[in-house]
Amino acid sequence: MKTIPSKETILLVEDDSLVRQSIAFFLENIGYHVLQGNDGREGLELFTRESPDAIILDLQMPGMSGLELLAAIKSDLPATPTIVVSGTGSMDDIIATLKLGAWDYLTKPIEDLAVLEHAVTQALEKSRLIKENKRYQLHLEEEVSKRTAELQRREQELKMTLISIVDVVASMVEKRDPYTAGHEQRVTSLALAIARELDLDEERYEGLGLSAAIHDLGKVAIPSEILAKPGKLTSIEYQLIQTHAQIGYDILTEGTAAFPWPIKTIVHQHHERINGSGYPLGLSGHDLLIESRILSVADVVEAMASHRPYRPALGIEVALQEISKHQGTLYDADVVTACLSLFANKKFTFEYS
Ligand SMILES: [Fe+2]
Repeated sequence: MKTIPSKETILLVEDDSLVRQSIAFFLENIGYHVLQGNDGREGLELFTRESPDAIILDLQMPGMSGLELLAAIKSDLPATPTIVVSGTGSMDDIIATLKLGAWDYLTKPIEDLAVLEHAVTQALEKSRLIKENKRYQLHLEEEVSKRTAELQRREQELKMTLISIVDVVASMVEKRDPYTAGHEQRVTSLALAIARELDLDEERYEGLGLSAAIHDLGKVAIPSEILAKPGKLTSIEYQLIQTHAQIGYDILTEGTAAFPWPIKTIVHQHHERINGSGYPLGLSGHDLLIESRILSVADVVEAMASHRPYRPALGIEVALQEISKHQGTLYDADVVTACLSLFANKKFTFEYS
């Protein structure tokens, strides 16, 4: 007989005191700590209070039977090895106990106690493996969720850094071109309101807001006297100003490959038109990002509604007539509908400081 290195506790539930004491004596002799219960109810109390490593139980007992005890602790049974020792030996009992979650079934009287020892050893070994596996799984899950949280934290930090860079760029662009002061903010607020109307997802909404804030970034390369020129622009000057969409894209391509949003593409496309008549590439329809289609409408409406160095403000009515007139040709039809509805039904207004 071998001895058990660390004492494991076995709950023995048996109403026949002679049988119970002889089994308990045998188990204690081979190194287990044994708790004894006289019937199902006592067994249940001991199980709840002591959390034994294994249970050996009889089926036929006065009061609460072995089957009732099994049913009462059913939810804990997948992790607690339970061996039924019964004198009935009927197939129905065997099936009923196994269905309730018992791990093994032995028939009384147990002629050879080595059989019981073998059943107990096997059950405890299997239980140890299950517990170890569970601990490992738990550890793995904790590790994964710890690392995921760390990644999300770093991603958020990176986003905040990028957002503050965009803020710096936006105020730099505005400082250089004070005649359009507030244009970027007003375009951003209208573009984001349209995006909400169209139910744009959060990630794209965020990227649209940042792109709108710096959409005219390329104007840093245009001479101030052209940007601020009062009166009509010559054809050459107009062409020069048009280069700002490409220049903005080039600056963003060289400097900020890490942006998690397609900011440079949106900036590149903000003067494209859905019939292909825009610039710089003459892209059309769904080759244009939805963010670009929104931004181009917000940009046109704000630009027409507001004062420009070369002309006084045309007013919001004229701006809305312009997008209605070209709805579906120059401007995305859904975007125009959303924009018109904002002004007509949602009392959207531009804020001028
Ligand atoms: Fe522009």
